[in-house]
Amino acid sequence: MSSSAAAKPLISYAAPALSGTVRVPGDKSISHRALMFGALAIGQSTIEGLLEGEDVLRTAQAMRLLGAEVERQEDGRWVLHGRGVGGLTEPADVLDMGNAGTGARLVMGLVASHPFTALFTGDASLRSRPMRRVIEPLSRIGAGFVGRSGGRLPLAVIGSPTPIPITYELPMPSAQVKSAVLLAGLNTQGTTTVIEREATRDHTELMLRGFGATLSVEPLPDGGRAISLTGQPELTGQSIKVPSDPSSAAFPVVAGLLVEGSSITVPAVGTNPLRCGLYQTLLEMGADITFANPRVEGGEPVADLVVRGSSLTGVDVPAGRAPSMIDEYPILAVAAAFARGTTRMRGLAELRVKESDRLAAIARGLDLSGVKLEIEGDDLIVHGDGGAPEGGATVPVHFDHRIAMSFLIMGMAAHRPVRIDDATAIDTSFPGFVALMNGLGGRIEPV
Ligand code: S3P
Repeated sequence: MSSSAAAKPLISYAAPALSGTVRVPGDKSISHRALMFGALAIGQSTIEGLLEGEDVLRTAQAMRLLGAEVERQEDGRWVLHGRGVGGLTEPADVLDMGNAGTGARLVMGLVASHPFTALFTGDASLRSRPMRRVIEPLSRIGAGFVGRSGGRLPLAVIGSPTPIPITYELPMPSAQVKSAVLLAGLNTQGTTTVIEREATRDHTELMLRGFGATLSVEPLPDGGRAISLTGQPELTGQSIKVPSDPSSAAFPVVAGLLVEGSSITVPAVGTNPLRCGLYQTLLEMGADITFANPRVEGGEPVADLVVRGSSLTGVDVPAGRAPSMIDEYPILAVAAAFARGTTRMRGLAELRVKESDRLAAIARGLDLSGVKLEIEGDDLIVHGDGGAPEGGATVPVHFDHRIAMSFLIMGMAAHRPVRIDDATAIDTSFPGFVALMNGLGGRIEPV
């Protein structure tokens, strides 16, 4: 799919005080992993609350093509019968991962240690994204790659029949690269180790343990950590409950903060500390957010988020926090545009290689909406005066779901309505977004 295929422009008008309780869809990262581990486990796995967005449905299809049984039941649960570690089979068709970097990179890892060749492609955005970051370590394991210039999709992964366990230090903080190496390590004899200098989301580690793998996490003297996986474990089918995605909850939460007088609740949101940088930052900005009923569900911490309209103040967001909020900078930048004072978001190099060049896309959208900002190196600096930005623009979203949703949220509280040129990408991660926001009192409409 590309932005030129039947674009769906939307307009977002200023909203009255928002109220209500809305459940946002399941966590995207956890949903991808649940399908992959279910496909590798012996016996039956069931998944409750799977995100049924485009990205995750592509992973479900990839698991079917690799030989697993994957079915959606009428009650909304997904049931898998896995192949056992090392039991995936050659796919009879190209694995089209759509818009999903996580799906593509993790499945490339899985295939790298199986003795067959698999072909990968994706939409225009995914075909422009860097795959060298996984090709490099997976080549060391023994896999071969034939792809386009710049290590981009479409490409063929020639899996190794005799994969070699490696110790790999991540050159960038990336849970996708970490996970690709660990997943390749599953069907590799011996111990595969990934060293990360900055902690990234640990859903792979938590869920692998839950399925029965032996995995250790050693803190390193310089603050990093070494994650070691013992190869060829027997994974056993599990029942998984997927928490609501904190990255998706961010949109109604920020809307609730920005629209004066709002009071909303978003239940059962994942609060894994490696995903919560946005919430920490919003609290520092003066946001009224309560984490009610904290509990553990399906091995992950969750809480009900209770949000009230708030006046925000600009803050300095350290680079070290970026891995725990990497997908949330577009919506944080929108919040910063309403804050009093300057918000400096440091160390955003990785934003340039997301579903779009998000740094450029955020800057363009803010600029078109009358917000003062600068980019200095890899830092984004947004100046607010505590009032609502002008709005009134049509923002190009570059087929990026998070850019699209962020600017629709801006329209809910800006002086003039905000349009986006295309809403199609929203379904990759947040089906039902518009209806959900309108159910809280928003007014987002087709143009
Ligand atoms: C993800 C990791 C992050 C994030 C992406 C999901 C994951 O990507 O941006 O949306 O599920 O592992 P990077 O690993 O490239 O930072």
